[in-house]
Amino acid sequence: MAEIKVEGLSKEFGVGEDRVVALENVNLDVGGHVFVSVVGPSGCGKSTLLNILSGIETPSSGKVTITQDNHDAEPGYVFQAARLLPWRTVMDNLLFVQKDRSDATRARCQKYLEMVQLGDKVDKYPGELSGGMQQRVGIARAFSIEPDVLFMDEPFSHLDAITARSLRRELHDMWSQTKKTVLFVTHDVGEAVELSNRILVFAKGGKLEDDLQIDLPFPRDPAEEDVAVAKAQVLRKFEELDLIAS
Ligand SMILES: Nc1ncnc2c1ncn2[C@@H]1O[C@H](COP(=O)(O)OP(=O)(O)OP(=O)(O)O)[C@@H](O)[C@H]1O
Ligand SMILES: [Mg+2]
Repeated sequence: MAEIKVEGLSKEFGVGEDRVVALENVNLDVGGHVFVSVVGPSGCGKSTLLNILSGIETPSSGKVTITQDNHDAEPGYVFQAARLLPWRTVMDNLLFVQKDRSDATRARCQKYLEMVQLGDKVDKYPGELSGGMQQRVGIARAFSIEPDVLFMDEPFSHLDAITARSLRRELHDMWSQTKKTVLFVTHDVGEAVELSNRILVFAKGGKLEDDLQIDLPFPRDPAEEDVAVAKAQVLRKFEELDLIAS
């Protein structure tokens, strides 16, 4: 189990005329077995939030605390682009982030590559794979370290609709079977409603505008009326907050 606590978090880039406020005074408490989506218009600080949580960026002010039962595990991170090492094979890209290269570790990596339908591509190099396949390697790599916390930044946005749908299911099955905390950035309100217990709505200027609970049972079929109604409610919220126009 894990808990993420964000207190008074702000982030600015640049100075003078170039100054951009990416996040402004964000307060957040996310803990336990929850699937949290972060939604909002382009440039509202979603990636910056994940980058700070995962230690890639430092805050300008405020504090982030992540506590995990498994103290050895680093949070897993799936980027907007796959970011694989091109000179390493698929299997070596996964092994690179592991603590050891034992047979058990290798078998675990193989298991997650099979989960994303790439069990037969372990010896390929990233350049030999399609963009969607590379993205799936990135997802398997994050899963393979079996972290308590998984940060995902629009992991399915570059994939075709069918692949994205099957990976959404895989991700959700995995989340249901484990006690992971997932923080998932997406532009897609439908995807957020399908996957999450909780949706954090950000607005331009990096403000956390709303924190919505979606209390519907999983798995959620977008064609089901309850799910469609929830999606319409979230979109209405976007309109109220004037996020669609911005
Ligand atoms: N390294 C950086 N240097 C300067 N400005 C940055 C940097 N990273 C982000 N920004 C700015 O901070 C703001 C928030 O960017 P961020 O990438 O977090 O947005 P986002 O919500 O993830 O957008 P998108 O949905 O397009 O991915 C933007 O105005 C962006 O231009
Ligand atoms: Mg982003």
